[in-house]
Amino acid sequence: MPGFKSAVVTGSASGIGQAACAGLLKAGYHVLGIDRNTAEQADERYEHVVLDVTDTDELARVIGDRFTPGDDNLLVTCAGQREICHTRELTHARFREILDINTTSVFVASQSFCERLISESLSGNIVNVASVSGFLGEPNRTAYVTSKHATIGLTKQFAVDYAQFSVRANAVAPGVIRTPMTEEYFSDSDQVARIQRGQLVPNIGEVDDVVRAILFLADQDAKFVTGSTVFVDGGWSAAKDL
Ligand SMILES: NC(=O)c1ccc[n+]([C@@H]2O[C@H](COP(=O)([O-])OP(=O)(O)OC[C@H]3O[C@@H](n4cnc5c(N)ncnc54)[C@H](O)[C@@H]3O)[C@@H](O)[C@H]2O)c1
Repeated sequence: MPGFKSAVVTGSASGIGQAACAGLLKAGYHVLGIDRNTAEQADERYEHVVLDVTDTDELARVIGDRFTPGDDNLLVTCAGQREICHTRELTHARFREILDINTTSVFVASQSFCERLISESLSGNIVNVASVSGFLGEPNRTAYVTSKHATIGLTKQFAVDYAQFSVRANAVAPGVIRTPMTEEYFSDSDQVARIQRGQLVPNIGEVDDVVRAILFLADQDAKFVTGSTVFVDGGWSAAKDL
């Protein structure tokens, strides 16, 4: 379909994913949102599927059957969870669950998306929402940090294997962004001060800071950018306090 812009967004019911859907609709995309929770956008170009992304057969089927590709095609993977507990207390089941949600679903969604494009000889883009936790260790987040390191690796692998099919794959690595996932931080003034001290930019990260990076990576302006990660962290990962 000429001029048809089409996106799939996982984790579309909240936080960064929800804001990404709004930003993509504004940019002219049709959006297929996938989340375990229901979601709405005040736009008829938004379609929602309630699905747990750990149901990988169904995830592959939904992307294969319900995503209608066009001229500009985009996958944004936002569905994610994290634990906060010491490694000693982290159960094997919870470790596996976090990896299933944060990493395996990214693999399955990306593979299904790419294969859907290849079947129609179309090009596209993947933007994975990773994290600074894909580059640094953090206390009490062993499964999360592992999953986000893996997501950065997956991003590079998709960039490598699908370049020949005109698919670019990149990631964004947010620092602390105020969303339901991080909301509890903001009821603790010491924690807020610690977050701000760790950044080079004093303000608190907002979902639209991440959405703008996603839109840039999806755009033709970024046609020479693949396999890379854009940090959206106020400089948090760039320096250490002494
Ligand atoms: N907020 C931050 O500071 C921050 C920083 C770095 C990276 N991230 C990443 O950004 C992404 C979005 O996080 P957010 O802050 O917007 O969190 P959020 O909790 O607001 O949104 C996460 C969404 O993922 C969905 N989800 C979770 N598990 C799912 C499952 N099994 N199946 C389907 N949907 C599922 C939730 O229902 C929710 O809508 C996550 O991958 C997170 O790791 C967030």
